[in-house]
Amino acid sequence: MSTETELQQTIEDMVDDYRGILAADESLPTIKKRFDPIGVESTEETRRAYRSLLLTTPGLGQYLSGVILFEETLGQKDDAGHPLPEVAWAQKIVPGVKVDQGKGPLPEAPGDLITYGLDGLAERLEQYKEQGARFAKWREVYPITTHNPTALGRRANAEMLARYAAVCQSLGIVPIVEPEVLMDGDHEIDRCAVVTEQVLHEVFHALYLHKVKLEWMILKPNMVLPGKDCRRAPPKEVAEATLKVLRRTVPAAVPSINFLSGGQGPEEATLNLNAINQLRGNAPWQLSISYGRALQQPVLEAWRGKAENVAAAQQALLKRARLNSLARQGQYDPEMEETA
Ligand code: 13P
Repeated sequence: MSTETELQQTIEDMVDDYRGILAADESLPTIKKRFDPIGVESTEETRRAYRSLLLTTPGLGQYLSGVILFEETLGQKDDAGHPLPEVAWAQKIVPGVKVDQGKGPLPEAPGDLITYGLDGLAERLEQYKEQGARFAKWREVYPITTHNPTALGRRANAEMLARYAAVCQSLGIVPIVEPEVLMDGDHEIDRCAVVTEQVLHEVFHALYLHKVKLEWMILKPNMVLPGKDCRRAPPKEVAEATLKVLRRTVPAAVPSINFLSGGQGPEEATLNLNAINQLRGNAPWQLSISYGRALQQPVLEAWRGKAENVAAAQQALLKRARLNSLARQGQYDPEMEETA
């Protein structure tokens, strides 16, 4: 298969008008943070057990078209001995992998961050592809303060995302491009809108310079929200602000926009997605999810590391995936939380 055919096939397998993507790619420090509150020690075996639980959930492929895995998971097997990427694809859920490798301060831009992992990326991607990964994810984070992100920060982060995406496409791997403007802080929604617009503008400029084919990528942005120490905004306000920024910055060639949840609660994230899809009008892209916490939080709480809780945990995952699939079509109602 040519690289172009591979990219096109992966987009076709991942993008439709009712499913979303599960982000289950927590790094070792992050999964420890998720396991600590439920009293589970993070070991290779507990991580394998947990991620097997997610991927063997019966019926999950009705609502999810992709799953982002941590590199360790690509090499792990379910209890029956099947490689986890194959377990996902058996349900028509395309397996992908997070390829960025941590972050640190950006020199000369106090308060801004930059993500690591471009060195050796092509070699790693070739290995991940052999293990079954068909798409990748790279996240850059942008904290908001009175002076961040700086112009230099926006430029440098956009450049990283574009270089990563170009390497992916040269190997037939669909890149998920994730610029995340963080919710931390007490800023108003308007400030998040200004920053998100600047960030996305710079990202698409860099993608253009690096000749990234927009038809064969997925954008994973934040929603436009007030800072988490500010008031909460009603879903309609979030949806209007988010759609306004996306319409100004994201070319119609991009097939799908899959939001991160970024610290919103599970129900809040579903409500906001629903409002976005109700107000989408003739927006040219799919508007879906690539949630981590907002899909997994109820699952972790139901599981608590116990084999006897696996079925209940899988039900919790299926419920959130199904409600988000409805929200994806603008058909979610909070009353469904009780009856689903
Ligand atoms: P959250 O939905 O928990 O923000 O995670 C999405 C993700 O993949 C962050 O990189």
